[in-house]
Amino acid sequence: MCGIVGILGQHQVAPILVDALKRLEYRGYDSAGIATVNNGLLDRRRAVGKLVNLSDVLVHNPLAGLAGIGHTRWATHGAANEQNAHPHACGPVTVVHNGIIENFRDLRETLSAHGYSPVTDTDTETVAMLCAHYLAQGHDPKAAVQATIAELDGAFALLFLFEGHENLMIAARKGSPLAIGHGDGEMYVGSDAIALAPMTDQITYLDEGDIAFITRDGADIIDATGAPAHRDIQRIEAQATVIDKAGHKHFMTKEIHEQPVVLSEALARYAPNGIPALPEALDFTKFDRILMVACGTGYYSCLTAKYWFEQIARIPCEVDVASEFRYREPPIAPRTLAIFVSQSGETADTLAALRYAKDQADMIVSLVNVGTSSIAREADLALAILAGIEVSVASTKAYTNQLTVLALLALAAAQAKGAIDDHGLASHMKDLRQVPDLMRQTLKLDNDIASLAKTLAPAPSVLFLGRGVMFATALEAALKLKELSYIHAEAYASGELKHGPIALIEPALPVVVFAPHDRLFDKTVSNMQEVMARHGQVMLITDAQGRASASDGTHSLLELPATGDLSGPIVYALPAQLLAYHTAMAKGTDIDQPRNLAKSVTVE
Ligand code: AGP
Repeated sequence: MCGIVGILGQHQVAPILVDALKRLEYRGYDSAGIATVNNGLLDRRRAVGKLVNLSDVLVHNPLAGLAGIGHTRWATHGAANEQNAHPHACGPVTVVHNGIIENFRDLRETLSAHGYSPVTDTDTETVAMLCAHYLAQGHDPKAAVQATIAELDGAFALLFLFEGHENLMIAARKGSPLAIGHGDGEMYVGSDAIALAPMTDQITYLDEGDIAFITRDGADIIDATGAPAHRDIQRIEAQATVIDKAGHKHFMTKEIHEQPVVLSEALARYAPNGIPALPEALDFTKFDRILMVACGTGYYSCLTAKYWFEQIARIPCEVDVASEFRYREPPIAPRTLAIFVSQSGETADTLAALRYAKDQADMIVSLVNVGTSSIAREADLALAILAGIEVSVASTKAYTNQLTVLALLALAAAQAKGAIDDHGLASHMKDLRQVPDLMRQTLKLDNDIASLAKTLAPAPSVLFLGRGVMFATALEAALKLKELSYIHAEAYASGELKHGPIALIEPALPVVVFAPHDRLFDKTVSNMQEVMARHGQVMLITDAQGRASASDGTHSLLELPATGDLSGPIVYALPAQLLAYHTAMAKGTDIDQPRNLAKSVTVE
């Protein structure tokens, strides 16, 4: 989603701001802009589309100044055009914003009585108008921002710059994260530390409700009550901010190929001696049921884990998408462990769902990839999935590492509940430990998968089928294909085929079937045969045993190594990812930043 940067520097900031914004490109955006204050005057440049367009504008119309703010916008209110691009300005103030100001219409009305009229469709402009209004009433910038923030409803991160103040930026956090960077006679603000990486590794994260008054000498912070607050300066590991394709054409392929390594790291952390070793605080004997909540790909990792928790640990498990869960406001039974899964740790719906569950569930555990995120901080226990920075908007290695940590949780639960004996545990662990190897073997099939993708690329629609744990794999595969190639895709539990989707079957519809040779294989094959009997084009993804018994009549087939109950959905995620990747390559779509998508969805 929107990216924010700000610099009080010693050098011309415009090129540095654009460079910092480039490091936030992965979040997804559709326009960009920067503003500086120079000789006391504010000025700004904005452009629709990629940052290269903003750079072009700056070549023809440079922007001077040692203090500036910048923004990449992911449109929420109003089209992606130059007028709606940030920074937004009103008189002596300019502002960039991530999030949503929910009461902006009411504020607009109030402000119109004072002679302020909007010139954009955005909610953000209202913040600039409100702050300008307080400045006009004689408030200084600090008081004006405090008065402004007090009137805003919603979740946001804001950064202000003022006419006549070349040594002041004001940052405010409510709902969306902001990092303050400390330099040598310079200060920085960023949506995350990654944006600031080349400039500093000394970072202060603002807490909920904080407002920071930043000069080149440092930051004075007040908390939500207005009291002075101390926030630590943390040193960020250089490795944590490296954004580099490592020779790959796209971040997505780099991240797909990193999976064997990062998955091994998760196994080493959570099962160092070959058996699950989770924090003691997580005592499964205290829970009778599990609730899991997430969005998108995280939701599919939860759906997979439901099978594991129920089949292996025999614990009833409910899974929901966060946007439904939070407003359904379901009762949460006593002795419930609530697990929230989010790569970014900032997904607005998942965070709201976590807050809803907080006073009701016995314990809140989060699985996150960003240890400093809100979802990590607000949980009773945060488990890092250790996937490393995921830049591609389409989630890949975070998914398989989420699955790995969830598999270990399920085994720990099974042990604690006495649902598994030593032999059973050893056999599941053996299965999990072979995953990095199985992944490496699967990645060698990249060229075969690229050929299969040629079948999908011209199709207007694709159907994915799977049973049991492979149902969630099918859902994830459909999501990946939609995200990357913009081809309509649907996924069904194979058994549901006859209940409607079979009407879609015709020769032009590719049907991708995920079917390892497991105890449900024959059932899935029956469904596949129903497709073939209607001249549907079946692409079967299976193993050697599956190939031997069911390849007849399929349009194409991909043979993966043999897998087990835990390794299956993790390994089968790779062809799902690579099929989407190669289909997108064939179609020439924007792979790392698909249209309309954002990496971290910080608005509802
Ligand atoms: C995955 O490819 C998607 N980009 C998306 O579904 C994502 O998983 C979802 O928005 C949830 O994000 P989170 O894991 O950061 O909470």
